[in-house]
Amino acid sequence: MNPDSVASAPGRNRPCDSVREYAAALERRGRLLRLPPMDQDRYEATAFAYRLIERYGIESAPAFLIERVRIGGRWRDEPVLANLYGRWPDEAVLFGVDPVTDDPRAMYRAVLEALGARLDEAGSWRRIAPVEVADPREAPCKDVVLTGDAVDLERFAWLQNNPADAGRYVNMGSVFIEAPEIGRNVGTYRCQVKGPRRMAINPEPGQHGWRILDAMRKRGDRVAQVAVAVGPDPMTFCASSTKMAGFLEDELELAGGLRGAPVPVVRCETSDIRVPACSEFVIEGEVSLTEFEDEGPYGEMYGYLGPVKRGNFVLEIRAITHRRDPWVLNSFTGLTCDMPRAPQVASSFYQYRRLIPALTAFNTPRGASGVVVIAIDKKFPGEGMAAGQCLAANAGLNKVVIVVDKDLDILDPSQVLHALGARWQPSASLLIPQTQMMMPDPSRPRWGLSSKMVIDATRQLPGEGGPASWPALNRDLLVERAPQAFELVDARWPEYFSRRE
Ligand SMILES: Cc1cc2nc3c(=O)[nH]c(=O)nc-3n(C[C@H](O)[C@H](O)[C@H](O)COP(=O)(O)O)c2cc1C
Repeated sequence: MNPDSVASAPGRNRPCDSVREYAAALERRGRLLRLPPMDQDRYEATAFAYRLIERYGIESAPAFLIERVRIGGRWRDEPVLANLYGRWPDEAVLFGVDPVTDDPRAMYRAVLEALGARLDEAGSWRRIAPVEVADPREAPCKDVVLTGDAVDLERFAWLQNNPADAGRYVNMGSVFIEAPEIGRNVGTYRCQVKGPRRMAINPEPGQHGWRILDAMRKRGDRVAQVAVAVGPDPMTFCASSTKMAGFLEDELELAGGLRGAPVPVVRCETSDIRVPACSEFVIEGEVSLTEFEDEGPYGEMYGYLGPVKRGNFVLEIRAITHRRDPWVLNSFTGLTCDMPRAPQVASSFYQYRRLIPALTAFNTPRGASGVVVIAIDKKFPGEGMAAGQCLAANAGLNKVVIVVDKDLDILDPSQVLHALGARWQPSASLLIPQTQMMMPDPSRPRWGLSSKMVIDATRQLPGEGGPASWPALNRDLLVERAPQAFELVDARWPEYFSRRE
């Protein structure tokens, strides 16, 4: 099987097979910006990413591909790809929805519907085991195989994003760890370039990858076999960047379920680890379980500089394989959107709906990690608060839970703020003084702990202490009493803008 052989056919209702295929599909829709060479020694790419998002807005800024970057005084050959995922029309492209339009609301619904079909009756993702490519030489990630002295990680276009970062990072890598008798894990962890054949790996304590390495260390293993795949197929990257696969569940099988087809994999050069054959790069080696090194600081996902991580893991690199003319994928951490968003939103929506039948929409606003907004079709007193409490109980996430009525569009931040201003009484909230939260929120008092807040911004019913009746919205009255008004304006719309003084 040729891993790149399935051509991008819009509407085939299956996700794109590779990063290249997805980038090409975005480009056809004018959603991939090709950029001239940039001087990262002067942090040009980072400043560009900020400006792009400031000017387009976080929900509209397109993906971009920088032709070449200058690092350490040398122009590097690899194009750098960033800001790939997360806008709903782009997610529709990724998941093969047909037709794709620019309407984020319609695409949100279409993508969630398409993904709903990939869940089983219990609300879990279907699983499909990976398949090994018949001829490893056909695997694009083996176009170039570097071993021994030919291995030089520093040669490629890994960026130092921020002047305060400890150095250059491979920050979009899916880290495959295989532990005999324990199992395999795939997790996305940033990796600091430490030399031509060394890089630090940063699974935070408690992450599945960290738990496996810790278990190996405790039983006396001296090294762990590890491979880092940069730019695997988007569904493997999605599985490796989320907890949709539980501890010791197979991320590759989950990725297969999300794709609706097996992930084609190929064996590494120096270990038995199987990695997605379409990856841009595979960095192979051994992680020491007896010697550790400091890593960081690094500008983290909340947009703040994180602490130095004392005694982190280090990979001794034995081989690097890559595509011909490989692309480097870079996360401008805390700024760009770097992982497919829809599976996690869909998974949350369908799973919470089993607990909250009134749930009509679920959204985690971009640029506001820790905040979640849901809409419900509220019929009974207490329903809004009960729904909010249900989400706040998620140990890892959801610091602030906002619940609104289903008539509001929760993808539109101004409508959510409208609910806070016009429908919410601060008394309709719940403060949880201290509970578990695993996110690197800089305001947390201690690692793993946070307070949380449920804001019930649904219209309170009289039985909940709300007003005897709620006034009608002016817009609703317009639609009701002058039903032709919007039709008239829509029909004349071009005319309003064609008049010249
Ligand atoms: C671009 C990107 C970089 C990430 N970097 C890290 C990281 O350095 N350390 C970490 O623990 N989690 C990081 N994460 C989050 C993890 O990938 C996520 O929590 C995932 O569930 C970890 O895999 P695991 O559950 O198998 O441990 C990152 C996610 C993304 C999308």
